[in-house]
Amino acid sequence: MANAAVSAGETSGGVTRREFLFYIWGASMALFAAESAGLMVWFLIPKFREGEFGGTFTLPVDTLPEINAAPENFAEGRFWLVNLDTTIPDGEERMFQAQDESQSIQGVAAIYKVCTHLGCIYAWVPVNNRFECPCHGSKYRLDGRRIESPAPRTLDRFQVEALADDKATVLAASEIVDNFYQPVILPADTAFLRIDTGAKETGPSQELLCSFTGNCP
Ligand code: FES
Repeated sequence: MANAAVSAGETSGGVTRREFLFYIWGASMALFAAESAGLMVWFLIPKFREGEFGGTFTLPVDTLPEINAAPENFAEGRFWLVNLDTTIPDGEERMFQAQDESQSIQGVAAIYKVCTHLGCIYAWVPVNNRFECPCHGSKYRLDGRRIESPAPRTLDRFQVEALADDKATVLAASEIVDNFYQPVILPADTAFLRIDTGAKETGPSQELLCSFTGNCP
């Protein structure tokens, strides 16, 4: 009688308990596989689109400012584009080689628009030929190096690539030296610039430029 009772309890509508558990296990495995596939697709799909902060921006090379001229503002990408050359006197009030810089600074850089102190949005101040932060007074040279603190370091930079006129062939790209993007010198046949705002390197801590002039507050 006892065996008959157990047997009846294990059967429901023609499906044994073992079969029922097997179906549940199979359904769980199928759900797990579907979730894994979904996650894989999510990782493979680019999270940012072209022209959206976090993604890439492709610009005609003629949007570049003149060498050592005031920076060009790209609000959607949250960066400034600068064109640097400390070997020429034009614009040396904006861009100059400091005493502790053994090599000239040449090329194009894309500078993140957020102050390295506490994250305010700083601005280019034409009358003073430098970037200035309205929150606590940090100042930066045209290439983003600190002139005055409290900013703890140089402004961050994004990767810049020089593209041919097919918008695909990469002719040159910012090199990373000491974990920081260096300005890229554009080959003569550069037609477009691609700025990758998903590829940012943190600016280094360098001596304040005002300390060379004895002019720090
Ligand atoms: S946030 Fe820019 S100086 Fe403080």
